[in-house]
Amino acid sequence: MEIIPYYAIIRAMRILTGIQPSGKLHWGNYFGAMKSMFDLQEKGENFMFIANYHAMTTVRNGATLREATQDVALDYLACGLDPAKTVIYRQSDVPEVQELAWYLSCLTPMGLLERCHSYKDKMARGFDATHGLFAYPVLMAADILIMNADIVPVGKDQKQHLEVTRDIAQKFNNAYGEIFKLPDAYIPETVATIPGTDGQKMSKSYNNTIGLFEDSKSIKKKVMAIVTDSTPMEEPKEPEGNSVYELYKLFATPDEVSSMAASFRAGGYGYGHAKKALLEAYHRLFDPYRERREQLVKDPSMLEDILSDGAKRAREAAGPVMDKVRSAVGL
Ligand code: TRP
Repeated sequence: MEIIPYYAIIRAMRILTGIQPSGKLHWGNYFGAMKSMFDLQEKGENFMFIANYHAMTTVRNGATLREATQDVALDYLACGLDPAKTVIYRQSDVPEVQELAWYLSCLTPMGLLERCHSYKDKMARGFDATHGLFAYPVLMAADILIMNADIVPVGKDQKQHLEVTRDIAQKFNNAYGEIFKLPDAYIPETVATIPGTDGQKMSKSYNNTIGLFEDSKSIKKKVMAIVTDSTPMEEPKEPEGNSVYELYKLFATPDEVSSMAASFRAGGYGYGHAKKALLEAYHRLFDPYRERREQLVKDPSMLEDILSDGAKRAREAAGPVMDKVRSAVGL
């Protein structure tokens, strides 16, 4: 599989991505995936769905899943997803994906799924070995193929799932004729690794995240607690590799970044100063998003309207594909 570069994406292409609602979104999610998705909105025909069926492989509580699904929608809409440019929908509002997943399952070799890293990783981390977790990539293939997607923006960790999708599509086409397009992955160049509050990669599983929409006090507390070394304030410091500085790079302008670097190198500039600057830069970008999110929360019918309109448009796209598929398989 070729990984398509940004410049090769054109307006006529259908771009689809899915996000699992399995926890509060954090700074790492924003700079790792969300932001590049908002840039893509200007490019092709965009679809984004909240993968609530997939989340059931790990979330075992109805209220939690419902709330997390809502939260992902609110977070994306608040940060810049424009429903006029991107069809946003809940995966479960297109139940045909389950139907398609079965047809694909019947052609998917066990060995293909047994080789999936993400399944093996989850086993190693002590998740229950359920059929759902094992079959996860087949459902993902159904999400993608049902929408006839050309391009699928995903993180590096999902590249193998895209290869599996193409394998399954090819097996289906070999058996039943050319029905599915083979999608390409688009893996945005992430601004290096985004450090968490303890200096490791920011990730839910390390418990070192800073949420996008936590209350301001808790964000401040977390920023102030970012782990740094103990070089005294007066001494010059090398900023590269320091978590506070690396995070500041994400939020600040290039001029602001070089000015912070110069202050660190000159001495007399401490991590406390840098943390304050980081906090201000976060608020400068996020306060308008926080406000928009509050507006959306106040008007639940608006969110519901956006999601049901998205569901309608997604089903319209899925319908003709499913007609072809059912007829091809003999139903
Ligand atoms: N597996 C993806 C992830 O965890 C989420 C996902 C489910 C997805 N279905 C998809 C992503 C279809 C892209 C296309 O990140």
